[in-house]
Amino acid sequence: MKDWSAAVDQQFEHVLSGFADVPVVHAMRYATTGGKRLRAFLVRESARVCGADVARSIWPACAIEALHAYSLVHDDLPCMDDDDLRRGQPTVHVKWDDATAVLCGDALQTLAFEMISDPLCHDDAEVRSALALSLAKASGGAGMVYGQALDIAAETAEVPLTLEQIIELQNGKTGALITWSATAGARLAGADLRTLTQYGDALGLAFQIADDILDVEGDAATLGKAAQKDADAGKATFVSLLGLDGAKRRAETLVESACDALSSYGDDANLLRATARFVVERRS
Ligand code: IPE
Ligand code: IPE
Ligand code: MG
Ligand code: MG
Ligand code: MG
Repeated sequence: MKDWSAAVDQQFEHVLSGFADVPVVHAMRYATTGGKRLRAFLVRESARVCGADVARSIWPACAIEALHAYSLVHDDLPCMDDDDLRRGQPTVHVKWDDATAVLCGDALQTLAFEMISDPLCHDDAEVRSALALSLAKASGGAGMVYGQALDIAAETAEVPLTLEQIIELQNGKTGALITWSATAGARLAGADLRTLTQYGDALGLAFQIADDILDVEGDAATLGKAAQKDADAGKATFVSLLGLDGAKRRAETLVESACDALSSYGDDANLLRATARFVVERRS
């Protein structure tokens, strides 16, 4: 993950060096720095197990990290989760201002589509188009944005959400982009998407449950973002419904399902299995 993360950093540096020297571009560079690069790594590993060109998978890897960074910049805005700290640094709207944060997010979103539509990403225009179509679906009003809207609405809901509703919310806000990342390699290789979709769906849910557990058990210094906020904000999470132990058991079961889904890839998928375990064992 570290090596690939360095490659992602370099690629962002290269692409953004062609942009003007203005505050919104500085904010784009800032918002795409740091982070675990989990989604980028899923793109790389799925590309590798599917036999796609790993070097060129840097394009969809950076694209999903740009899209993810946009979602975080907007998620932290005062009108959303109102957070001051992200990846151990002041959030974009704190360091600059709300307008710059909105525009920075907008530009990161379009940058993601620029990157997967670039012929350097893949020779076949149909593959690039399928990547763009699937990323649009995963990000928009039926994907990440849909989940984020449910997340905000749940804060003021009169009755607590049911388990099914929380799963729908989390599949949207977090799962859709994680499943996109885990299936990107199959799209690049023109391979079947089913196995990696199953893996990604289980992993995405496990990932968000771990995030919700870390909000309760973590501290800002380790997490690089504020902790102990979800309960006061009235967020609907697995922890709020199942308690800490119930949420941990659920995450474990999901990790097992994610690993089981990979059986047809044999040992070649061991890094993807390790990634699933990492998702629930991580401390930040
Ligand atoms: C945080 O995602 C937002 C969620 C979807 C829970 P990550 O924990 O992957 O954030 P970074 O990219 O490592 O900062
Ligand atoms: C954010 O979920 C999900 C997206 C940005 C799409 P959270 O609000 O739980 O993420 P953190 O805890 O702020 O990283
Ligand atoms: Mg949020
Ligand atoms: Mg948040
Ligand atoms: Mg959270």
